[in-house]
Amino acid sequence: MTVLEVLQSTTAYFQKRHIENPRLNAEHLLAHVLGRKRIELYLQFERTLLESELTPLREMVRRRGAREPLQHLLGNVEFCVLLFLCDKRAMVPRPETEELVEFLKSEVRNPKSEILDVGTGSGVIALSLASEFPEAQILAVDISDDALGLAQENAARLNLAGRVRFLKSNLLENVEGTFDLVVANLPYVSTQARDTLSREVLHDPAVAVFASGRGDKLIRELIAQGPSRLRPGGMLALEIGIGQSEALFAALAEKNYRDIYWKTDYSGVRRFLFARYG
Ligand SMILES: C[S@@+](CC[C@H](N)C(=O)[O-])C[C@H]1O[C@@H](n2cnc3c(N)ncnc32)[C@H](O)[C@@H]1O
Repeated sequence: MTVLEVLQSTTAYFQKRHIENPRLNAEHLLAHVLGRKRIELYLQFERTLLESELTPLREMVRRRGAREPLQHLLGNVEFCVLLFLCDKRAMVPRPETEELVEFLKSEVRNPKSEILDVGTGSGVIALSLASEFPEAQILAVDISDDALGLAQENAARLNLAGRVRFLKSNLLENVEGTFDLVVANLPYVSTQARDTLSREVLHDPAVAVFASGRGDKLIRELIAQGPSRLRPGGMLALEIGIGQSEALFAALAEKNYRDIYWKTDYSGVRRFLFARYG
């Protein structure tokens, strides 16, 4: 089979299995197996694939068809132009979180800011900000040893190991000092909503996805703890779940935060909340 034929048949197979973006998935997997850039496939459409290339590809296509996340199969994910390792130790970073980071890049005025990332997962927020602000002091915390292990591997691979400190902590429990910015993408899906999630999401660690109450319990706890760790005028930046903006806006107001506002993501969902304290 040629490259083009394999792409066509894999795309058709993914379509039948209702995989989103079937052609793109097929291209990513084939490029991965061939050790090429995706774009290079277009210069090799007529090339005949060897059995030694088809065998590993078939296995990956089977696993993707069974809804294993593409990023787990590739072992990495691009986030804000950096390449991060990605595996089952932490949540697959989402495009919405890239939007949050891009917004924060424009919002951080002092390049020497002290920044805290709560629930760092694979480290994408903390490490992207470290790369953007070489003089910033950044602390990244997570309750999961697995996630912290992956985040530290990412820091080393991106040559940012000396730039971000990692700490195991249940929210702010083990955190000392005060910060200009506290950013958090904490779990925000209620356990009752489990059946509504895509099968890919169920490959993320449960500790990264689910929180009790209406899914906003951890975010509410962070809102309550935030004032003790924010410098006067410091900002709390939160990624939140669908339908949570109004109740969390009220929670921020009740705890005397000021300048509270939300921003929508590219699909129009009120996905981010910002507030200052003091
Ligand atoms: C939604 S994932 C986000 C990961 C990463 N920040 C990102 O944006 O891709 C939430 C993260 O919060 C961590 N987490 C869950 N409960 C926590 C807690 N009580 N304290 C600190 N981190 C927690 C999880 O281990 C997970 O890595």
